[in-house]
Amino acid sequence: MKTVFITGGTTGIGMELAKLYANKGWKVGVCGRDKLKFEASFQVGRDNVTFYQVDVANRDEIKKAIADFSKSIGLDLLIANAGIGYAYKTKVPDFEWSYRIVHVNLLGVMYAFEAALDVMIPRSKGQLVAMSSIAGYNGLPGVSAYSATKAAVQKYCESLHLDLKQFNIDVTTICPGFVDTPLTQANDHMMPFMVKAPKAASLIARAIEKKKMIYAFPFFFSMIVRIMGMLPRTWYRALMSFKAINYSKD
Ligand SMILES: NC(=O)c1ccc[n+]([C@@H]2O[C@H](COP(=O)([O-])OP(=O)(O)OC[C@H]3O[C@@H](n4cnc5c(N)ncnc54)[C@H](OP(=O)(O)O)[C@@H]3O)[C@@H](O)[C@H]2O)c1
Repeated sequence: MKTVFITGGTTGIGMELAKLYANKGWKVGVCGRDKLKFEASFQVGRDNVTFYQVDVANRDEIKKAIADFSKSIGLDLLIANAGIGYAYKTKVPDFEWSYRIVHVNLLGVMYAFEAALDVMIPRSKGQLVAMSSIAGYNGLPGVSAYSATKAAVQKYCESLHLDLKQFNIDVTTICPGFVDTPLTQANDHMMPFMVKAPKAASLIARAIEKKKMIYAFPFFFSMIVRIMGMLPRTWYRALMSFKAINYSKD
């Protein structure tokens, strides 16, 4: 039986991925800070999903949870999905919240990968997946730390993809556009090409199965964003001065 540990698997994309893998007969471990979210999302004891109450920004906690899961259940696949963003996008950043975003979205991925590699390198097999975002392709206004962490996750995974080949370990980066989850339900702006969370999970699972190095979706929206990433930066800045696509407030 295959095994997967998903950080931030109690709501949104992580929860849908956990359900998808559990329905395929995998043994699934999920973590989150709030046990009530887990109990609201899963039929405890029946869903083949084990919960770990963990803050991914706490290196010892996440390392212990992944080590416990792999020892008692196994670890074929690790999905570092937990992440936070900005509901209110302001021109002057909230620095306290920005530092928290770095701890959760970047260090949280690194801590989870560190714990998984402790198990995967000696076995010379496994797959690491991290949740980036299409917000990582460009410096988006109003979400500076979010864009920065998601760009960093892309490059971190690209490096590891090269380094870990020799250990037979695959690394996949996922870059979703807007997905309908509690994270985006807090947004008060337009979210073009929004995808439902179960659909997002099935696209992500297919990319993971194909061991893609990087997978961005939905296709058309991700193409627009990637083309914006290739523009001369003066053109990009001019484009982002249009209010309709710049959600940053005074
Ligand atoms: N939704 C989108 O449009 C979208 C687009 C691009 C990328 N993404 C990325 O996809 C990932 C999942 O997002 P989502 O939309 O599914 O968000 P979500 O519905 O808010 O779910 C986030 C999950 O992460 C957990 N989490 C948050 N902070 C945590 C922490 N410090 N330690 C452990 N668990 C934590 C949450 O549980 P607790 O709160 O109980 O801890 C929850 O299970 C994130 O990395 C996000 O940046 C989302």
